[in-house]
Amino acid sequence: ASLDALAAPAPATHRVQDRTQPVAEGLADGFRNAPDSDPSLPANQAWAAGIRERAQHSRLGVDLVAESTLHDAAQLEQTIETAVAANAAWRVLSGDERAEILHRAGRELEARRADLMEVAAAEAGKTLDQSDPEVSEAIDFAHYYAERARGLDRVDGAVAVPSRLIAVTPPWNFPIAIPAGSTLAALASGASVIIKPARVAARSGAVMVEALWAAGVPRDVLQLVQLGERSLGDRLIGDPRVDRVILTGGFETAQAFRRIRPDLQLLAETSGKNAIIVTPSADYDLAAKDIVASAFGHAGQKCSAASLAILVGQAGRSRRLHNQIVDGVRSLTVGQPWDATTQMGPIIAPAEGKLLEGLTTLGEGEQWVIEPERLDEEGRLWSPGVRAGVRPGSEYHRTEYFGPILGIMRVETLEEAIALVNEVDYGLTSGLHSLDPAEIGTWLERVEAGNLYVNRGITGAIVQRQPFGGWKRSVVGPTTKAGGPSYLMPLVDWRPSQARE
Ligand code: ALA
Repeated sequence: ASLDALAAPAPATHRVQDRTQPVAEGLADGFRNAPDSDPSLPANQAWAAGIRERAQHSRLGVDLVAESTLHDAAQLEQTIETAVAANAAWRVLSGDERAEILHRAGRELEARRADLMEVAAAEAGKTLDQSDPEVSEAIDFAHYYAERARGLDRVDGAVAVPSRLIAVTPPWNFPIAIPAGSTLAALASGASVIIKPARVAARSGAVMVEALWAAGVPRDVLQLVQLGERSLGDRLIGDPRVDRVILTGGFETAQAFRRIRPDLQLLAETSGKNAIIVTPSADYDLAAKDIVASAFGHAGQKCSAASLAILVGQAGRSRRLHNQIVDGVRSLTVGQPWDATTQMGPIIAPAEGKLLEGLTTLGEGEQWVIEPERLDEEGRLWSPGVRAGVRPGSEYHRTEYFGPILGIMRVETLEEAIALVNEVDYGLTSGLHSLDPAEIGTWLERVEAGNLYVNRGITGAIVQRQPFGGWKRSVVGPTTKAGGPSYLMPLVDWRPSQARE
């Protein structure tokens, strides 16, 4: 009940649609997921149009702002010193006191929903249907970790000893929810935070941080840096005053952090190569819709995105599904995030390296069903691509591309399909479309991935209801899940209980 009282009323400027209410009713601690906006409601249309218009304008200033805030070595040193000194007062707050500030942070993020969506469009190319739930997720992290902070002081008699300083290094592709979630968790655990947003998402990070400051997080406890040189990032990670690092990024980045500092306490969610399996028992209409949304939402630039569709059964039967997927992909409208008709926005930076290779070359035995086309001079707008004939063990089967490409594989049995999923080094998200309980049971038992989704898309984890975390090479460090009950536990040290039980 107390949480209900704290939850912000919907801002008068937009109406919300509660996607969660039936499920959230009656949960023990009263947590409720923040509802998304529904831009198709007449009342919301002008609101959404305003965000799109401002995003188009602010895109022009993106690079300038990022450059103007760069820290040098002396400023970084000052930032670390300040953060450690300020932690003395933050770590001694009770869990309840920190919880109050985090609940306020949730309300401040809600108040800035439109600003956050604007910068996410300008910097990361996010369409509003992608950024609106991302803001909801950030708000959820605030309220959820607030409640987790309350219970953290002592667990089973052991006493939590907060980190003094946690460095947060989030990615650009979820420029709101991931920076917010990592930062809020670290603050809830009693640590000071230095956040280094991705260079291209600097302003998104800044708007998020301002919301937390406005909520009462002291400016010395939470600081934001942009580092001019790569060596300064290494210096931050390598500094012994940094007790822990929360990273969301590539597997190689996590390995690089470990090389800089072998004893680093790292909590990293890394790469994925994710598949959706569809068996002949599935609802093909639903499967096709979920595959297209999971593969091409935010132009496939999600660690959770579907990069493979594995169709089980005789070719003749799955042909219908194949055609439905292709029709769905062909119907996607590609454009700028500020155009109201856009369903798939740009990629964050002109395609190069692995992604360019994936958009332009085929492996042995593969064919383009839909060949991706470059649609602008800069190389940021690409039409979505679908390749068929992907062979087991091939480059495409095993590699993360992080862009708008889907590969199709065909197998005879569910067992073969599961083997193909498990052959990949990563284990982040995985999906099954099947209406057969025995198949679902087999898959749940055998498939190797941190986040399993049955008969729905495989992106869009939801705080508390579907906590998010990887397995195998998709995680480095503890396998606790973001937005789940244990996430704060490895952010602190535990002093063993001295009392006799
Ligand atoms: N948490 C993000 C998702 O589930 C990565 O899509």
